[in-house]
Amino acid sequence: MQCIPFIARDNGAMIVESGLMTTIDCGLMYRFRRGEMNMNRTVKFAAVLCVAVCMGAMASAQVAGVQAKAAVSAKMAAPAKAAAQVPAATLTIDAGKTGAKVSPTLYGLMTEEINYSYEGGLYGEMVQDRTFLSSRSDTQNWVPAPQGTARGAVARDATTGPSAALPASLKITVEEADAKDAYGLRNGGWWGVPVRGNTTYTGSVWAKGDAAAVGGAAVRVSLVADDSGKVLASYLLPALTTEWKQYDFTMKTGAIAKVTAANHILLSVERPGTVWVQELSVFPPTYKGRANGNRVDLMELLAGMHPAFLRFPGGNYLEGQTIADRFNWKKTIGPIVDRPGHASPWRYHSTDGLGLLEFLEWCEDLKMQPVLAVYAGYSLGGEHVAPGPDLEPYVQDALDEIEYVTGDVTTKWGAERAKDGHPAAFPLTYVEIGNEDWFDRSQSYDGRYTQFYKAIKAKYPELQLISTSNSRGNVVKSVTPDLIDDHYYRRAEEFFKDVHHYDNADRTGPKIFVGEWATREGMPTTNFGAALGDAAWMTGMERNSDLILIASYAPLLVNVNPNGMQWQSNLIGYDALRSYGSPSYYAQAMFAGHIGTETVAADLEGAGDRLFYSVTKDAAKGVVYLKLVNASSSAQELKITMDGAKSVKATAKLVRLSAGSTAATNTINDPKRVVPVESTVTGMAKNFTRAVPGYSIEVLEIGVQ
Ligand code: AHR
Repeated sequence: MQCIPFIARDNGAMIVESGLMTTIDCGLMYRFRRGEMNMNRTVKFAAVLCVAVCMGAMASAQVAGVQAKAAVSAKMAAPAKAAAQVPAATLTIDAGKTGAKVSPTLYGLMTEEINYSYEGGLYGEMVQDRTFLSSRSDTQNWVPAPQGTARGAVARDATTGPSAALPASLKITVEEADAKDAYGLRNGGWWGVPVRGNTTYTGSVWAKGDAAAVGGAAVRVSLVADDSGKVLASYLLPALTTEWKQYDFTMKTGAIAKVTAANHILLSVERPGTVWVQELSVFPPTYKGRANGNRVDLMELLAGMHPAFLRFPGGNYLEGQTIADRFNWKKTIGPIVDRPGHASPWRYHSTDGLGLLEFLEWCEDLKMQPVLAVYAGYSLGGEHVAPGPDLEPYVQDALDEIEYVTGDVTTKWGAERAKDGHPAAFPLTYVEIGNEDWFDRSQSYDGRYTQFYKAIKAKYPELQLISTSNSRGNVVKSVTPDLIDDHYYRRAEEFFKDVHHYDNADRTGPKIFVGEWATREGMPTTNFGAALGDAAWMTGMERNSDLILIASYAPLLVNVNPNGMQWQSNLIGYDALRSYGSPSYYAQAMFAGHIGTETVAADLEGAGDRLFYSVTKDAAKGVVYLKLVNASSSAQELKITMDGAKSVKATAKLVRLSAGSTAATNTINDPKRVVPVESTVTGMAKNFTRAVPGYSIEVLEIGVQ
């Protein structure tokens, strides 16, 4: 029986069940997420069942303490295990006999607003709840901070705001204040406000005042150190007017002895009167200097994965809990003041600052192609739109969205994109219709998919259209999708057993998109055991990448702060200041960085059932990539024969990721415990022997003629 740690979130509070949940229970969890089950019943049922069934396995539960201990022993253990205890195996490679083409777009990214992935994560905004619409109370993120003798009050005012999209604001009524003793509001950011020295912060705020407030400059935005109260950077807005106006500004810090996130953003009023504010925004320098852009460190980590595409905007985030809360792309473009935002199904508010154009620019910055998921008329809670006339507006929305992405500036939506600052069209090959529609109990997906398919193909015959339903249910029968999106959330053991899943799959039907997959071991980010499961699974995907054209791990990002995580087992973790890749992250970076162009015939004999491999070749570069995954604790000696090559270069590049234990992992405080090590190995020839260390993932780049 396979067990996984279980985590759930209800009513804004994180519920962590440190017991274990069977894979059957995972299905229940899915059903809960789809609004089909009562949360508490699910939790209780899972907990009782798990305690009864999984007592023996409890020792391996990846609760934080266990992980920490395992990580310590991993550090002390030698990375490679001692001499082989198992008989030698033979791997015969025929470098002259190439098989299927390797899809150059095999490895990509899947993303959605989950685990504070964008706000509180990738999206650079430092202010939490900038539109005062967070599901938390308004004052939680905006704490009154009167200085000295200052007196005032703050309340949400639903009667005035700067735009139709943001019709409310924060009203600050100041009775007594001056430049020395200002009436302020403190925003703690996303679990802190990272402030670096000699850095320019870019901001803006919408504001207006009453007659008393507009008499002189009186509103200030500052970055302030929590402990000392020291102002690290500050900007005084010019005198307000009685009409809503946007004020753009920059603030520059001086030298800062120690960079921390123990700071806050202070909005202060320095004279009596009433001031209304909305959408206070502060950004640090962003990746490639994009306005309204992304965090540099996280973008660099993503670039390190060599991703070929980005699947967005979800996942559940595409569907929303209700139709009203779907990712309604038209409300996510244009000036941010015209974006109302919406509730994410992962139980927090999104301002949609990272909207459709920002997703596309993210693709552009990392040279990825978009895999655009369009809303298909079904939401998580079970609401659906019937195929036929009712669905037409949604189909039209999808056509408009595709035009926004690909249309030139003479088209309606291409012109809109140009107005938003991006005249050039974006490339687009793949469009996914819906997400996980096998959950749709109304059985309407065949009709909905077909309606979208016909309309999109009629206008864009070159697009490849992905269906989200497979043998799990609601299979599309009325038309033939170009690709099917398969999802796998598994234990390592399950991946080990299923690495040949696609070896004999039908090659005459739709191609495959493995749109979500992950070994779910370790939290908040996965551990080395998960990386072994992932790597084994990737050998199978590579071998079958004539069929699997694109594949993306999920979820990608997690804010590791308390309550930051809604889904355990993620690829990249971060807090306000720092970020790190899990062992799974490095396994993917290794595979995607050495992908090859064709598979190569190879035959493994005599190895245990924990050794996995993939052999590909890049003829233009004159290299064979040999990927070896040893998921056993014992080393495996391999006698390798390289047939079909005129010559084999004596030295090869070796990249190895290894650990002494499957529980070994990286954390926010110890981010580089399990990282790939690159070296040069000698002795390569047509026949050579290698000992593949226990618990290791290796990529050998061998020069061949
Ligand atoms: O990756 C997390 C969630 O898993 C996705 O939102 C959803 O598509 C799947 O059920």
